[in-house]
Amino acid sequence: MKTEYLSKDDIRRAADLILAGELVAFQTETVYGLGADATNSEAVEKIFKAKGRPADNPLIVHVDSIDMAESLASQIPEKAKILMDKFWPGPLTIILPVEEGLISEKVTGGLKTVGLRLPASKTAQALIHEVGRPIAAPSANTSGKPSPTQADHVWHDLKGKIAAIIDDGPTGVGLESTVIEIKDDQVLLYRPGGISQSDLEKIVGSVNLATSIDQAEQPKSPGLKYRHYAPDKPVKIFLADDEKLDKKIAQAHSQGHELGLLVSDETLGKIKISVKDHYSLGKERDIKIASQQLFAGLRFLEEAEVTLILAESMADLTGSEAYMNRLEKAAAGQYI
Ligand code: TXA
Ligand code: MG
Repeated sequence: MKTEYLSKDDIRRAADLILAGELVAFQTETVYGLGADATNSEAVEKIFKAKGRPADNPLIVHVDSIDMAESLASQIPEKAKILMDKFWPGPLTIILPVEEGLISEKVTGGLKTVGLRLPASKTAQALIHEVGRPIAAPSANTSGKPSPTQADHVWHDLKGKIAAIIDDGPTGVGLESTVIEIKDDQVLLYRPGGISQSDLEKIVGSVNLATSIDQAEQPKSPGLKYRHYAPDKPVKIFLADDEKLDKKIAQAHSQGHELGLLVSDETLGKIKISVKDHYSLGKERDIKIASQQLFAGLRFLEEAEVTLILAESMADLTGSEAYMNRLEKAAAGQYI
């Protein structure tokens, strides 16, 4: 299949492709999504095929208005309403009981719930509006790769497998949306993301991390059982203020490693030993910029001539939960 490379002025063409049951990747404020008509099972099946994604991992459904969200949910708890009003459009996915018969069961993987999100990206909104139907969209990467934050990441993974990509520049947030569900008036946080736990707590009081909920309690976000990102190269995390860092780098070199650092310029300036390659997480240690750059940096260093990627921890910065969550997954929890 020839993949069309579209711009944000080609929304009509993109909408026609989606209505014809094809896949179109589009920019959202978090990461690029791989969109299909959520009401069309054949189209939705193509998403799983193109990504190599397990069929029981449900997809987020993107809407262009709170009205559209209300039509797809059979019931909306009070706290969900409050959070929609506060954070939509934006990087928050809310899992709600699904209204039967409207969206394909392939989207929900047979669950009685659906994850809904109203993206802030104007291009994404325009596309959903032009299609006039909800759009199912996971991140537009091959399953197991870092989520795409630029159109060329999508091109790299999915060229030839999907109908089109709308290039609208790099994404602003750089990490996927926060995923929550409200159960018995409690807000459960399944995936940290663009909206932080403390942002949520300021509006609705205490939020429970789903990982701290009794393991026996079902269902959890099915995505939790899959490793998000298994890099081809080992990744280890380092602490910016580690006094032994130079020593550890020298040791890795003596073991024959070529190193790629994923690091802020500020921290790089303090490292005395030169390494094979690096990718900048921004001038200063800034969690917004580091989050924007994390996935692009992991992709860049995977392609570089290095054998070990060392990535900077930002755990000491406020609002770093989502960054650290993705980085710890990439590093399988390993620190140097
Ligand atoms: O920022 C984002 O959320 C991006 C953009 C494209 O919107 N999308 C994204 O989708 O990251 P995906 O498919 O890579 O992640 C969806 C997550 C998965 O962890 C999935 O298990 C969870 O949301 N999820 C979706 N529907 C669910 C449901 N009904 N119940 C529980 N978890 C659900
Ligand atoms: Mg994903």
